[in-house]
Amino acid sequence: MMDTNAKLYGDLSRILVKREDIAQAVKKLGQEISRDYEGKELMLVGILKGAVVFFSDLVREIDLPVKMEFMAVSSYGASTKTTGVVNLVKDITVDITGMHVLIVEDIVDSGMTLSYLKKYLSTRGAASIKIATLLDKPERRRVDLKADYFCFTIPDEFVVGYGLDYAEKYRNLPDIGVLDPRIYAQE
Ligand code: IMP
Ligand code: MG
Repeated sequence: MMDTNAKLYGDLSRILVKREDIAQAVKKLGQEISRDYEGKELMLVGILKGAVVFFSDLVREIDLPVKMEFMAVSSYGASTKTTGVVNLVKDITVDITGMHVLIVEDIVDSGMTLSYLKKYLSTRGAASIKIATLLDKPERRRVDLKADYFCFTIPDEFVVGYGLDYAEKYRNLPDIGVLDPRIYAQE
């Protein structure tokens, strides 16, 4: 479907996950989380900015009271490869003691971002810390990290859309697509 974002679609080599399939997977994940966290104090921590679209769809599929917080990190800049250094740009300021924290992320690639965040949050007295990611790219893992929940495993290709960006572009594509390598050929 190439409606309102037709201009952006021209930069893709192909669509990898269609919006209908994303919606179905997110709904299923929301139901699973609702079952697993029944009777617990759940705090969802969304990682800005890539996870915002996934986060906003996911919370509406969770049938439990949830608290919502956001953190921001940077490690990529305008590049398709991680620098390996994770910078905390925005922290959460609320007390997470006794809370069941679920970190919501767009993609696990090298695993550096989430292993940093998990370690960072683990010093603050949460009852549990788990990870929910939309996408998992296991071929690129550099640290031992497994997401507790994920929607799709994808091949080692750079993808954009549904929150994911290249140089801050394409986040508003409703589907997930493989970015045409000619777009970042100069890198
Ligand atoms: P990691 O620290 O290497 O696991 O990288 C995680 C972050 O890198 C994600 O939050 C994304 O912002 C970004 N990232 C990794 N792979 C992709 C991709 O294929 N497209 C867009 N962003 C990506
Ligand atoms: Mg990003």
